[in-house]
Amino acid sequence: LVLILDFGSQYTHLITRRIRALNVFSLCINGTSSLKSIADLSPTAIILSGGPHSVHAPNAPCFSPEFIDYVESNNIAVLGICYGLQLIVQQMGGEVKVAGKHEYGRMEIVVDKAEGLFGNKKVGDRQSVWMSHGDEAVRLPEGFEVVARSQQGAVAAVENRRRRFFGLQYHPEVTHSPEGMDTLKYFLFDICGITAGWTMEDVLDEELKVIKSTVGPEDLVICALSGGVDSTVAATLVHKAIGERLHCVFVDNGLLRWRERERVMETFERDLHLPVTCVDASEQFLSKLKGVTEPEKKRKIIGSEFISIFDSFGHELERKLGKKPTYLVQGTLYPDVIESCPPPGSGRTHSHTIKSHHNVGGLPKDMKLKLIEPLKLLFKDEVRELGKIMGVPQGFLKRHPFPGPGLAVRVPGDVTLGNHLDILRRADEIFIQSIKDAGIYDAIWQAFAVFLPVLTVGVQGDQRTHSYAIALRAVTSQDGMTADWYCFDQKFLAELSTKICNEVPGVNRVLLDITSKPPSTIEWE
Ligand code: XMP
Repeated sequence: LVLILDFGSQYTHLITRRIRALNVFSLCINGTSSLKSIADLSPTAIILSGGPHSVHAPNAPCFSPEFIDYVESNNIAVLGICYGLQLIVQQMGGEVKVAGKHEYGRMEIVVDKAEGLFGNKKVGDRQSVWMSHGDEAVRLPEGFEVVARSQQGAVAAVENRRRRFFGLQYHPEVTHSPEGMDTLKYFLFDICGITAGWTMEDVLDEELKVIKSTVGPEDLVICALSGGVDSTVAATLVHKAIGERLHCVFVDNGLLRWRERERVMETFERDLHLPVTCVDASEQFLSKLKGVTEPEKKRKIIGSEFISIFDSFGHELERKLGKKPTYLVQGTLYPDVIESCPPPGSGRTHSHTIKSHHNVGGLPKDMKLKLIEPLKLLFKDEVRELGKIMGVPQGFLKRHPFPGPGLAVRVPGDVTLGNHLDILRRADEIFIQSIKDAGIYDAIWQAFAVFLPVLTVGVQGDQRTHSYAIALRAVTSQDGMTADWYCFDQKFLAELSTKICNEVPGVNRVLLDITSKPPSTIEWE
């Protein structure tokens, strides 16, 4: 295990992912974690991340005082990146000062010593790297030496090979440092002697073992399937481990896309052989939503209806099988785990509820279920790979995200009026199919149609019409936190607009949403 101590850099996840991409398992935890939580993980190497602070700032985050003794006595190599380098220098007796000249962006560095981190380079070799720092190391602790400098002569890389401490002032993990991965590899494989071998097959074997040994022979396990990638992969994995003791539920809340229920049930049953009960609760949801126009209220109603159906599902199982379910499977991913405990001062807090997102598996309090979260150490692309190994169809694994409250957040206002939901379903299906036919589905992070409850005048077949408008939303994004609108080809848009107006009764106008997030959100409510 390569352990990353996070001091708040925006690149911390990227380091974790880069190392995993080299088939080495890595985890990241808060930089100020106790020595015990570090030692419990028995890391082979430790990376100290960058961060937005100055080591001189009051309350600047730091590793625990016994950290240096611990790593030395266990012969663990430590690599500090940016703030991480400055911490090493300051904590081991050197000096860090505000730099005369700040270094931000692409810079060139020159190798001073072809040893240690640059053992595979020559003295005088230059490389382009990404810097982002305001402080610099001006005096190194005893036993340390500079192995690379920036063009301005500032310290770019340091090391103390005997004590196994290394530091890079730049960010080797970003693509703007093209040889950065070379240096990371050299650190992991040559200096630390790690052997690459962590694969998704190993993860699968390991998770199966854990689930088999956790869930007792009499235990019942339940799982709410949303039709999304995460819950499907999680359920497939648990099903592989414990078979028929897993009971899944899929809820049709009347807010699903065109033929969504048939499509996902077909995948669950035909491709994955998952034991799924499909609950048609559309009337229950829609009657509760009748007349409700306030977005947050709509979300709350949908969330609590899900919980009540889930609750009934649990009770129904208990009636049928004579015992209460013990475990609940959730498709929680690693970024959710990291985000829920952000490092101090990182600015990564979730204190502002912009929208009350809800997970389909929201836990009814009195059910007292224990959680099984087999994906909680994985990133999304790793989950897709795991799904692929288990035979989840490729087309399913690449589906765009779909929100728990479904089409309710794509029909502003009362969703139950007239045939608004039906109009939206038809327009959305044409939009998504056109994107697939044009071969751009995978280049878009999320695309959907929005129904606008506004009647405008049009002329169709020589007749005046008074019909609704459809907005098209397509975005690119990394994680949904920020997003940019996708730029379609003009001919594609022209054909699409004609098709929607011709084929969807009740629509005479098509609009394109060209707003990024922020200031908008991806969904319309
Ligand atoms: P927003 O609209 O907040 O959406 O920019 C960001 C991403 O989250 C999805 N989304 C949700 N997902 N439950 C979910 O499971 C929700 O309540 C929810 N609301 C939004 C949205 O589709 C986008 O991918």
